[in-house]
Amino acid sequence: MSKPNYILGIESSCDDTSASVIADRKVLSNVIANQEVHSKYGGVVPELASRAHQQNIVPVVQQAIAQANIKKEDLSAIAFTKGPGLMGSLLVGTSFAKSLAMGLNIPLIDVNHMQAHILAHFIKEEDSKTPPFPFICLTISGGHTQIVKVSDYFSMEILGETIDDAVGEAFDKSAKLLGLPYPGGPLIDKYAKEGNPKAFKFSKPKVGDLDFSFSGLKTAILYFLQKEVKNNPDFIKENLHDICASIQFTIVEILMDKLKNAVKKTHIKHIAIAGGVSANSEIRARLQNLEKHLGWTTYIPKFEYTTDNAAMIAITGFLKFINNNYTNISASAKPRLKVTE
Ligand code: KG4
Ligand code: ZN
Repeated sequence: MSKPNYILGIESSCDDTSASVIADRKVLSNVIANQEVHSKYGGVVPELASRAHQQNIVPVVQQAIAQANIKKEDLSAIAFTKGPGLMGSLLVGTSFAKSLAMGLNIPLIDVNHMQAHILAHFIKEEDSKTPPFPFICLTISGGHTQIVKVSDYFSMEILGETIDDAVGEAFDKSAKLLGLPYPGGPLIDKYAKEGNPKAFKFSKPKVGDLDFSFSGLKTAILYFLQKEVKNNPDFIKENLHDICASIQFTIVEILMDKLKNAVKKTHIKHIAIAGGVSANSEIRARLQNLEKHLGWTTYIPKFEYTTDNAAMIAITGFLKFINNNYTNISASAKPRLKVTE
């Protein structure tokens, strides 16, 4: 058998420094260094993020290569996140990838982070199910909320997206109003498990069929809490589970409504989710339910490939590599890259 293509992926778009080595479509390592430093600020501080990437990048890449049990000379190409993301953060990964590719004299491949979230579905795992083209992908993260029609690996069309906050932000900002630490999304998910999703009602935004808006929801929750806390200062503490369940119910209801609209419009019933928020247990449960009742086939990636990670960058790099789709050494980071670029 011929030697596999070993691709090193480097991800540094936001607050996680990650490096991964894949052999063709199989992940050999996926090392992620999270940055704790932001939690006390209630959000990512760009200046601190780039500084932490600078400290993390060398050990993270070394660890990814060591865990893959290869030598850096075995690498076939280096893929890095070009954008979208924070400029200072992207620059660390971009510069590092360029230097290493030059030093090893191997191809350099730029990767669109939003495409990579979606293409993580093509990582080969023991029990993985790969979506056939065309499919619909709901990309939901702390920075993005999009419904994308994926016609081929690099042929994507945005059918709808948020006009204000991303869904992860909606979770995190709601959690902040409840006094929960950042990022609060997973905590809302956790407390919601013991709450009544119908206890409190929040109205859904009125936007286009396939677009999203979450800023109104945040304001509605703020006014609701202010009113209730005025009557009972312990309102949040006494009702935390029900409030979390009701907020989560409203957000997930909005996402599922939009997905149903997308299926109605495109007649495509292969539905994938991507991005950090797809870790949410209610989203997973509701999707499986729709699969049963509406005849959809759903694709939910393994948790470690949903949040920001370099394995998704490496698999996207591999898919470009086999088509000789390289970039040159003057490649630059692009903070505002669209999924279609
Ligand atoms: O994709 P990701 O790791 O980073 C970005 O690119 O933004 O997504 C992080 C977002 C955060 O907003 C976090 O609160 C949210 O995903 N999140 C969740 C859950 N796990 C992570 N939101 C709701 N429920 C969860 N279980
Ligand atoms: Zn992301």
